[in-house]
Amino acid sequence: MSGNVVSLHWSESMSVGHPVLDEQHKKLLALCVDTERISKSGSDTTTEEFAALLSEMIAYAAAHFEYEEEIIRTAGYPQCDDHIKEHRKFFAYLNALKTKQATSQALKDVKTFLMQWCVHHILKEDMGYKSSLTNKS
Ligand SMILES: [Fe+2]
Ligand SMILES: [Fe+2]
Repeated sequence: MSGNVVSLHWSESMSVGHPVLDEQHKKLLALCVDTERISKSGSDTTTEEFAALLSEMIAYAAAHFEYEEEIIRTAGYPQCDDHIKEHRKFFAYLNALKTKQATSQALKDVKTFLMQWCVHHILKEDMGYKSSLTNKS
């Protein structure tokens, strides 16, 4: 365990300067918070709930990535291709999880990955295109 404490609650400092993308990021972070809650609950329904949440996350991430990629491509963000590659990697990982056995260790790993990825991606990678969006508007 890294002991890294990250905030999963959206704040103005996480804004990428685009209201729709900000709303989508809020929802992604909320899904991460739900993941943490479920993985901590330890009830018999955990695995089913987790699978449902994973499906929701996959669907929501797919829609968000598609929308975000269109926006940054149109804005001429120079690192657009690398950014899209990061999205593809995350998406491949999420999809691979669907076929894995949902052991408690697997749930923990998924939770840690989702939280770190969401926060890192939104705060670092997504923040990278902010100036491209604000310069073009
Ligand atoms: Fe992104
Ligand atoms: Fe994003």
